[in-house]
Amino acid sequence: MDIFKVRGGAPLQGEVRASGAKNATTKLLVASLLSDKKSVFHNVPDIGDVEVTVDLCKEIGAEIQWDRAAGIIEIQTKELKSSYIPQRFSGSNRIPILMIGALLGRTEEDIIVPTSGGCPIGTRPVDFHIEALRSLGATIEYRNMKQEGAYFAHAHSGLQGAIITLPFPSVGATENTILAAVRAKGTTVIKNAAIEPEVVDMILYLQKLGANIALDVDRTIRIQGTRKFFDVEHHIISDRIEAASFAMAAVGTKGRVFVKGADHLHMITFLNKMREIGAGFSIKNNGIEFYYDGPLQGGLHIETDVHPGFMTDWQQPFVALLTQSAGSSVIHETVYENRFGYTMMLKEMGADIELFKQCLGGRECRYAGQNFYHSVIVKGPTPLHGKSISIPDLRAGFAYVLAGLMSQEEMIISGIHFVKRGYEDLLGKLQNLGGQIEQTTLPGSASDTKRDKNLQPILAVI
Ligand code: UD1
Repeated sequence: MDIFKVRGGAPLQGEVRASGAKNATTKLLVASLLSDKKSVFHNVPDIGDVEVTVDLCKEIGAEIQWDRAAGIIEIQTKELKSSYIPQRFSGSNRIPILMIGALLGRTEEDIIVPTSGGCPIGTRPVDFHIEALRSLGATIEYRNMKQEGAYFAHAHSGLQGAIITLPFPSVGATENTILAAVRAKGTTVIKNAAIEPEVVDMILYLQKLGANIALDVDRTIRIQGTRKFFDVEHHIISDRIEAASFAMAAVGTKGRVFVKGADHLHMITFLNKMREIGAGFSIKNNGIEFYYDGPLQGGLHIETDVHPGFMTDWQQPFVALLTQSAGSSVIHETVYENRFGYTMMLKEMGADIELFKQCLGGRECRYAGQNFYHSVIVKGPTPLHGKSISIPDLRAGFAYVLAGLMSQEEMIISGIHFVKRGYEDLLGKLQNLGGQIEQTTLPGSASDTKRDKNLQPILAVI
């Protein structure tokens, strides 16, 4: 088993480049399946989730050349070989489920998307996707199979534009609906749509591909169906989660880091919170420099929200940073009901964090009155002690790495394949900045590279 050994105390210094956005790249590859034209993507991150998505697209007939060093993928799907998503991709339905939207208008065959654990239609977490696609004329059934269930989808009577109001501005459901709408007859209007930068990047790509697509006021997206497509060249936006992660690591280690490619427009809410805790930043033409500007102050209230609110994926490392800020801060998670599990380990490291089921702060969210620990109070600063910990998911993973970089003791972190699926060369980037982090294999265990061959390629959770 491969692990990170992290030791804090060294301020991160220097320059790091924010890679292309994971949450845009994976969806753009799927979006390219809408047509038989060639798409060339630039700024592609070399991460596990892209690898899995590339495999997935190849499986159904895409021809792909990936120049990892240049960060360029050329993809073209002249013909669909299959519309069956093999079971090994079923560990996450975040990317495979988008295959339904992308392929509905392209094949007469059933699109089959297996899901692990059985997730019958109508229950979370893909109910919004399914309902929206049905509104466009898709027939989608969930069938129990021998080992696990699968969604069976087709649009034998054709897809027809519709007015769809999403119950919540879900990123994935918005993307799935847009994809199906591109090949539907007539106009589709998606109300209460997600407007995250990654969704907008998909809109820009689709416009180049041939779609007539507009982002209206008030979370409304309009798509005029088309069958005429063009070759596309597209530069993927930079990863605002990775950029924010390095920002927090710079400030948390009392250092100074220029994050090349960090996009001001996509980070407004994050920057406001950095200013509130007393972190320094300076916005340049080609990125943002982050620096420690004296002791960090707590006393913050953060409510995670859909864009342009404070992104839920910034939440975990920000909580780690708040353990080093003076005073009490309140964080109310309103996007996911159960995204504070990772705080248990921070508490074991010495953090003062209390969890609450109530909506702490300004407003009640959709989890009000339910049994979810979705608010926390963090009191700082508290020294963080070295521990041996295992990463439960991608973003919690970076929170732990950050905790390690801010601790004075050595920390052993396992489960590092999670961060590798979302962060391009995290180890190398941190080492270049002077971070005391190394990767090693636990004595007596096999290296993850060997192990990974036997593992199902499950996409990073979130
Ligand atoms: C995407 C991002 C993730 C980010 C999230 C919110 C990717 C690969 N992941 O995830 O990093 O944290 O947006 O910005 O792009 N929901 C339902 N039913 C549905 C769909 C969603 O109840 O059919 C709920 C989810 O459980 C969650 C909330 O809606 O509570 C938001 O989910 P969504 O916006 O769909 O997130 P993802 O697209 O999965």
